[in-house]
Amino acid sequence: MTFDLKDLKPVEKQYYLQHVIAPRPICFASTIDKEGNINLSPFSFFNLFSSNPPVVIFSPARRLRDNTTKHTLQNVLEVPEVVINMVTYDMVQQTSLASSEYPKGINEFIKAGFTAIPATLVKPPMVKESKVNLECKVLEVKPLGTEAGAGNLVICEVLRMHIDDSLLDDISIIAQGLPKIHQQRINHVARLGGDWYCVVNENNLFRVEKPNTQLGIGVDALPANIRTSHILSGNDLGQLANVQEMPIIDPAFEDDHLKQIIQYYNLNPDDMEKELHLHAKKLLTEGRIRDAWQVLLASF
Ligand SMILES: Cc1cc2nc3c(=O)[nH]c(=O)nc-3n(C[C@H](O)[C@H](O)[C@H](O)COP(=O)(O)O)c2cc1C
Repeated sequence: MTFDLKDLKPVEKQYYLQHVIAPRPICFASTIDKEGNINLSPFSFFNLFSSNPPVVIFSPARRLRDNTTKHTLQNVLEVPEVVINMVTYDMVQQTSLASSEYPKGINEFIKAGFTAIPATLVKPPMVKESKVNLECKVLEVKPLGTEAGAGNLVICEVLRMHIDDSLLDDISIIAQGLPKIHQQRINHVARLGGDWYCVVNENNLFRVEKPNTQLGIGVDALPANIRTSHILSGNDLGQLANVQEMPIIDPAFEDDHLKQIIQYYNLNPDDMEKELHLHAKKLLTEGRIRDAWQVLLASF
């Protein structure tokens, strides 16, 4: 199915966009109006856009229902400061509760049962239960339209970051006095379409090595039988094509299964190629790219 967004109703556009642009991190924004009323609301139209200067943007949209603006937007226009609290799995139900449309002036810290602790540079308080708090100055608010559903970019400079000690490594550092963060301990939750959320934890995190600093040969440079293999997937080809030059046979390479394949399928080149690709695929899932190449080279 293909369609133009201009042909959809606002609620339909939101439906498709939210399901496909996902998962989105959640900015749990604490703001304050000029009378000192505190507000706390989640926004998943949110991300990091620059690290130097450190800039994050979130977007409280005009309500689809009646085209009114959200209290968070009104607050940052009055007091251009915000604390962005990161949302973890143990906070997700209360965070959802805080998104209820409570009337202006109602403090969602109290409604949702979170603890407000003073920030150090800005007026809105921080969520104590949140493992990371970002104290931010609002640089600019940029409306994206005037119709229902139109976003308003709240462009924030991160001034100060508070990270719970439990997320930090005792030993590894990125520089003197700056410990590494355990990515797998944060337990971020993220928003998808409708009621769907996901959690990031040890069970679903995985690593993809950064491409070489030197350029990989590219999928187009792979031998045709590898490139068009029915067994090797796009992920397999991506790893094989990340080598800096086409590998050559290493006479010292020892592999019992490779020997068996060559012995057994010697008279049947098609089956041999299939078996070699299956074996190489398995080695790739183990991250053994060099060995996978040696197996594949045996078919030439
Ligand atoms: C996880 C989550 C993410 C949300 N993301 C957004 C968003 O990005 N933009 C938005 O306008 N509303 C979003 N909402 C809805 C707002 O949180 C909701 O409208 C809230 O009541 C706004 O509060 P306020 O009027 O006090 O600012 C989200 C709700 C939830 C639960």
